[in-house]
Amino acid sequence: MQPLNLNDFEVFARDKISESAYDYFRGGADDEITLLENSSAYKNIFLKYRVLRDVSNVDTSASFLGIKLSMPVLIAPTAFHKLAHPEGEIAVSKAASSEGIIMILSTLSNSDMEDVVNENDKMVMFQLYVYKDREITRELIQRAESAGMKAIVLTVDTPYIGKREKDIRNRFTLPEHLSVKNLLPVSKDKFPVVDNSGLAGYVSSHLDPSLSWKDIDWIKSVSKLPLVIKGIGCSEDALLSVENGADGIVVSNHGGRQLDTCRATIDVLPEIAESVSDKIEILIDGGIRKGTDVIKALALGAKAVLIGRPVIWGLAYDGEKGVKDVLNILRNEITLAMALCGVDKVKNINNELIAK
Ligand code: FNR
Ligand code: LAC
Repeated sequence: MQPLNLNDFEVFARDKISESAYDYFRGGADDEITLLENSSAYKNIFLKYRVLRDVSNVDTSASFLGIKLSMPVLIAPTAFHKLAHPEGEIAVSKAASSEGIIMILSTLSNSDMEDVVNENDKMVMFQLYVYKDREITRELIQRAESAGMKAIVLTVDTPYIGKREKDIRNRFTLPEHLSVKNLLPVSKDKFPVVDNSGLAGYVSSHLDPSLSWKDIDWIKSVSKLPLVIKGIGCSEDALLSVENGADGIVVSNHGGRQLDTCRATIDVLPEIAESVSDKIEILIDGGIRKGTDVIKALALGAKAVLIGRPVIWGLAYDGEKGVKDVLNILRNEITLAMALCGVDKVKNINNELIAK
């Protein structure tokens, strides 16, 4: 059987990885209300289509921060790809490169950032977690810039890891042969031995929960790269991102893995777009699984979307080819949905496509 849609990949991937890795990748915080809501909210939004508009040549190309993309999709930063497949982040990077889209690489990757950039025509952005030790943080940013990353994507919704019950029960940790590779030079590449989630232990030992708007200036002073703030959940924080000089934001609740019962990202997007879309480029993630979800996100104000878990499932299922399959299925769905909506270019996707 062949996977036909993004959800199929989860089923196919499940048998290929350990139960604890599957639980880590799939899971959300607490009762997983937000995890579910992120995708189900799209099902409550209906499209209004137009006809007789010559859709014989649909063009899915898009852009973000001036970088051309073959479609309005980026790969969300997700940690520990070697838990899914031995080639890990390198396979994802190659797939993103051949499909002409940007990969956002997690700080917490199992591969060195330089190796990942080398595989990708340099269409990689670096997701930054801020360490308590600011020298370590400075080095990460400077390595990202020297490696040729296109932007820093600062994740701001993770002062601590959300309460992920499966990870606590599984005592989630990395196997001996894997590490937080980018942090090897500063000996922060291993999880502490704890009685619950090793990742939660790692984050509370090393990442800085005191991070605040005051630190944005410092981060900007360390590199010339554009700064994207990821984890924005309301228009107040979107406006503060603009005031603090960000170049972009990601409307994100971390795929329902942090604060449970916060709103679905697609429900928050309209108020954010209304307050900042003329000032900053807006991305969104969380629960995007269908071409029509992408159309809805763009119609409601996003410039492009990020997909997280489907990429991991594709990677676990069939390495680089599995990730390419995920991206191609999504591309075909976007193309078809655009044609059926009566739009031939991404820039023509707008609010008129949303049924009121
Ligand atoms: C994540 N996410 C994440 N975000 C981030 O900024 N840095 C990270 O290291 C990770 N790690 C991570 C691991 C796993 C297994 C998941 C599922 C998610 C959040 C990610 O970037 C994104 O916000 C969500 O995954 C988007 O939701 P979907 O597409 O997975 O529903
Ligand atoms: C996660 C972290 C690593 O969601 O961002 O697992």
